[in-house]
Amino acid sequence: MNLLEQIRAAQSRLDTYIGEYFSKPLDTDNTVKEATYYSINNGGKRLRPFLVYSVGNLFGANEADLDVAAAAIECIHSYSLVHDDLPAMDDDDLRRGKPTCHIAFDEAQAILAGDALQTLAFELLSEHTFQVSAQQQLAMINTLAKASGIQGMVGGQALDIAATDMSVTLDELERIHRLKTGALLNCAIKLGAYCAPNIDEEVMSALDTYGQKLGLAFQVQDDILDIEGDTAVLGKPQGSDLDNHKSTYPALLGLDGAKNKAHQLVEDALLALDAIPHNTDVLAELAKYIIERDH
Ligand code: IPE
Ligand code: IPE
Ligand code: MG
Ligand code: MG
Ligand code: MG
Repeated sequence: MNLLEQIRAAQSRLDTYIGEYFSKPLDTDNTVKEATYYSINNGGKRLRPFLVYSVGNLFGANEADLDVAAAAIECIHSYSLVHDDLPAMDDDDLRRGKPTCHIAFDEAQAILAGDALQTLAFELLSEHTFQVSAQQQLAMINTLAKASGIQGMVGGQALDIAATDMSVTLDELERIHRLKTGALLNCAIKLGAYCAPNIDEEVMSALDTYGQKLGLAFQVQDDILDIEGDTAVLGKPQGSDLDNHKSTYPALLGLDGAKNKAHQLVEDALLALDAIPHNTDVLAELAKYIIERDH
């Protein structure tokens, strides 16, 4: 299978798993259930789940365990998008090619759907009986909580808002991107690793370097696509950052400068993989794809 086929396979596993959860009778309000399912079952690229599967498979993790970790991180990511699109934040009306949750439903439902997806992540992770130790399961829960919260995505989103209509230094922008986007991408890698037994410190450290570089490259490319992308292909409004006067890499370095930065980050990510004594081709291909993608 080539990379895109492998990504599609991860998408399909994830969609099946999530679909099964929402097809069960749930004792809840139907509108919030629909808004929640609408926000996750909507054709995202599923790159964080793909990372969970790829890293887990590399180190012999159990597939059913990977399904749970992949679903948990996609729940958090999808929630972050629902809230990111709200009028109080980026105020966008298109996501993954469809009206954003607050447009399709309303703001109250979008806030609740985001909340529901956030707690669902921890419900799934804490309920499942993993093949690895309870200590590793706890590490997954802790890692996901930290990467999502004030020391991760939420903290980054707050800094992103604070940096609106302002010029920030490169170091400050890197911090914003590392937290708002990098933290969850790196967490996906860690979840895949924690699903596998006995990964040594050196490999974990190389994976962490790979994840940090990849996470930053991902958001630099996202910033570039906000300028160069096409709304129909992106599935979200091109030009949103410009409209909102956001601090981005192209705003600070220019388009060419941002592209150079993204390339350098991918080179660094590839270098980190050299320290892992396994066949890491798929992780290398993913890193290259991250900055070649058009959506
Ligand atoms: C978009 O993430 C938001 C960022 C963190 C840059 P993705 O580009 O992974 O969005 P989906 O999940 O494919 O919709
Ligand atoms: C959002 O960054 C990162 C999140 C934590 C959701 P952006 O605001 O650039 O993401 P998009 O471009 O709307 O997907
Ligand atoms: Mg945003
Ligand atoms: Mg946004
Ligand atoms: Mg963006």
